[in-house]
Amino acid sequence: MKLAGVVLAAGIGKRMNSSLPKVLHQLHGATMLQHVLKTLYELKPQKVVVVVGKHFKEIKESIKDASAISFVQQKEAKGTGDALLKALPSLRGFKGTIIVINGDTPLIARETLKKFLLLHEEKKDVISILSFMSQEPGSYGRIIRDKAGDVVSIIEDRDATASQKRIGEVNSGVYAIEPGAFHLLKKIKINDSKGEYYLTDIIRIARDKGIKTGAYCIGSEDEFIGVNTQEELEKARQLMKDRITKKWKDRGVSFLDTTSVFISPDVKIGRDTIVYPNVHLEGNTKVGRGCTIYPNVRIQNSVIGDGAIIKDSTLIESSVVKNMATIGPFAHIRPGSEIGTGAKIGNFVEVKKSLVGMGTKASHLAYLGDAKIGKNVNIGAGTITCNYDGDKKQITTIEDNVFIGSDTQFIAPVKIGKGAYIAAGSTITKNVPSKALALSRVEQRHIKDWVLKRKLKVKSEKLQVKKSEKS
Ligand code: UD1
Ligand code: CA
Repeated sequence: MKLAGVVLAAGIGKRMNSSLPKVLHQLHGATMLQHVLKTLYELKPQKVVVVVGKHFKEIKESIKDASAISFVQQKEAKGTGDALLKALPSLRGFKGTIIVINGDTPLIARETLKKFLLLHEEKKDVISILSFMSQEPGSYGRIIRDKAGDVVSIIEDRDATASQKRIGEVNSGVYAIEPGAFHLLKKIKINDSKGEYYLTDIIRIARDKGIKTGAYCIGSEDEFIGVNTQEELEKARQLMKDRITKKWKDRGVSFLDTTSVFISPDVKIGRDTIVYPNVHLEGNTKVGRGCTIYPNVRIQNSVIGDGAIIKDSTLIESSVVKNMATIGPFAHIRPGSEIGTGAKIGNFVEVKKSLVGMGTKASHLAYLGDAKIGKNVNIGAGTITCNYDGDKKQITTIEDNVFIGSDTQFIAPVKIGKGAYIAAGSTITKNVPSKALALSRVEQRHIKDWVLKRKLKVKSEKLQVKKSEKS
C-alpha cells in the first residue's frame, strides 16, 4: 500500500493554558508530535505532511530530521477540516492512501494503525475512521451508526443530544482517505457552535453522496487519549509509563515501586536488573543484565554493563560504565567518560571526559577530568586533576598500577609511569617515572616546646597590659 501521512498540529491548544504549543509538550523525553511522527514513520509512508499554526518555526525546529517532512501553515486555527485542506497542495499527484492523525494523540500503537489500514484496504473504503469504545466519552466525537451498523456521521460532544452523548464509540482522530475524496473537504460548512470547519463532517457528506465509508472499532482506549488539558497530559504520561514499565517487567526486570520511576521509550534494560524507586533512565540508555540501580539515580544516553551497581543519588551522562563496575553513592559521571570493568567510583567523585581502567578505584572525594587512567590504579581521597590552565583543557595520564596518596593534585599536562607511587599531599607538576615515588610536600619538622613558649609569651603580654592600665 502506498501511504502518505498528515499530522494535524495547528490547533492553538487553548485548554492547555500554556505558552508552549500543545504538540510540543513532552512525555518521557519526547514531544507529543515526535511520538506521533515516530509511530507514523514505522508505517513507512512515502510522504509526511505536518500542518502547523502560528508556532510554525518552533515546531519545525523541534523536529530533528525536519528535511523529510513538508510543513504547511494554517495561519488561523479554523478547525480540523480546514487544516487538512491546507495539506492538500503538498499531496498533489500522490496516488495512494492518506492517513490523517491528530498531533495530540501520542500513545497510538503502530500495530493498531497497521490493522486499521488493512481493514481500510480490504473493505475498499474511500474514507475510514478509527474508532474506540470509551468509558468516559467526554470531549470525543461520537460515532453515529444506522440500523445496519454502518457509520452515518460523527457528532462532536458539544453538538450531541443527551442520547447521542451516551454513545460509547468515539472518534480517535485517525482517518484513512483516498485522494478521490479530497474534493469533499471543500464541501464542509462552518460549524456554528464552535465557528470551525470540522473534518468529522466529511463522513456525513460522503454518505450523502453514496461514497463508501467505514468506522473500525479497534485498539484500546488507553492508546487513543487525546491530550487537550494538563490533566490529560498527566494521564497520558502515566499511561506511557505503565506501558514502558510493563514491557520491561515482562522481560524480567524487577521494580521495587514503579510510581516514581521514569524510563524513556528508547531505553533498553537487561533481565534480572533491579530498579529502585525514583530512578530516571533517559534518552537511548542501555542497562545490562543483573544490574542494581539504587534510588535517586539519573542515567542519560549511557551504556551500563552487566552486573554494574549504581548506588544512590548518582548522575551518569553520555558515558560508558563497563561490566561489574560500581558507581556512587553521590557520584557524577559527566559526558565522554568510560569506567572500566570492575572499577569503583565512590562517594562524591566527579569524572569528566576520562577513561578509568579496569579495576581502578576512586572511592572518595575526587575530581578526574580529561584523564587517561590505566588498570588497577588506587586513587586516594581528595585527588584532583587540575586540567584547566585558564586557556585550554590539559590531559593527565596515569598508567597501570599507580598508587595515588590522598590529597594529590596533578597539574596537567602530566604523566605518571606504570606502578609509580605518589605520596599523600603532593602537588605533581612533572612527569613521574615508572616505579618511582613522587613526593612534593614540605618535609615535616618539629619546634621543641613551641606550645609552652607561646603560652608564656601570651601571659607576659597580658601582664604588661594590666600594668599600663593601672599607671
Ligand atoms: C477531535 C475530533 C474528535 C475526536 C478527537 C480525538 C474534530 C472536529 N473533532 O476533537 O471527533 O474525537 O479529536 O482526539 O476534528 N488542529 C489543527 N487546526 C485547527 C484545529 C485543530 O491543526 O484549526 C489540530 C490540533 O492541533 C490537534 C488536532 O487537530 O492536534 C485535533 O484538534 P482538537 O481541537 O484537539 O480536537 P478535539 O476537540 O480533541
Ligand atoms: Ca484533541
